[in-house]
Amino acid sequence: MLESAARRMGEEPGGILAADESIGTMGSRLNDIGITDNPEDPTYRNAWRAVMFGASLRPAVNGVILFEEQLANPKLVNMLTVQGVLPGIKIDQGLAFFAGSDVEQVTLGLDGVEKRLKLYSEQGAAFTKFRSFIHIREGQGMPSDACILANAKVQAGFARASQDSGRVPMVEPEVNMVGEHPIEYCAEVTEQVLRIVFEELDAAGVHLPGMVLKPNMILSGSKAKNRAAPEAVARATVDVLSRVVPDAVPVIAFLSGGQTDEEAYANLSAINLTARAEGHPWRLTYSFGRAAQKGALNVWRGSPYSVQAARARFVELLAEMSAASMGAYPTVAV
Ligand code: 13P
Repeated sequence: MLESAARRMGEEPGGILAADESIGTMGSRLNDIGITDNPEDPTYRNAWRAVMFGASLRPAVNGVILFEEQLANPKLVNMLTVQGVLPGIKIDQGLAFFAGSDVEQVTLGLDGVEKRLKLYSEQGAAFTKFRSFIHIREGQGMPSDACILANAKVQAGFARASQDSGRVPMVEPEVNMVGEHPIEYCAEVTEQVLRIVFEELDAAGVHLPGMVLKPNMILSGSKAKNRAAPEAVARATVDVLSRVVPDAVPVIAFLSGGQTDEEAYANLSAINLTARAEGHPWRLTYSFGRAAQKGALNVWRGSPYSVQAARARFVELLAEMSAASMGAYPTVAV
């Protein structure tokens, strides 16, 4: 059951849509398009989700990660299930500073997770997502080994609890792209993070064919000079994955992490071309949030008159993402 659900989440030509912004994060995305969001009132937050979920999502979207406010809304969940799209749930609950650091963080949400998993299962969640957030400060000892290990242990505990409840865990150990560091340092840190995560998953008895890995791509820092082009991103990403991700993991669905949509799609496409040429076993696809939504959110801007245009733009972006997940972006017009 877990194995077939995990494979279904990555089924070609689709991937996962991340629409699990917390109330605060969604509020700031809405503020960016001129909407004043009220944390006490989900109207706009739900309206944006209804714009997306009312679009024709298949075959580009196999599953959608929701925030608990939206999973608790049967109307929104139904907009997915009638299309054959799996609902998922973000189950992490914020970040705390790690061991006295004012930069490094560890993810919260493991306490009482069994009880919440029971509720989410009743509400229809087929899979879960848990994100940890690793900061890079090259030359300042960050990330520290201790912080990497602490986050990996939480990831493993979450993944095991999720599988015990019959839900596929998406394990998301994000290495943040913010910084001036070169691509080589992102590769070094990501390789270490993933290696420790898989050691802890093994120790916790997590069944690898019943999970999805949601990593960052290997990128130059967002403020680096001469940022690496897609071919170099692909080479570095496939090299790191092939060293540390067991073949038993069926699906690797990348986060976009603050890349523009064109950048994320071009990189995903190049990663697929490289991995396919070399015969790697995993399905390599997307679990994008910002890179999937931003272009359509900018068309919508909260107006009922722009819903159709926003959906049309969203469907175009989904088609481009889908092409990228098969190594065929940019699509050439004929
Ligand atoms: P981005 O693609 O915007 O990084 O979001 C993915 C996600 O789910 C972050 O947890």
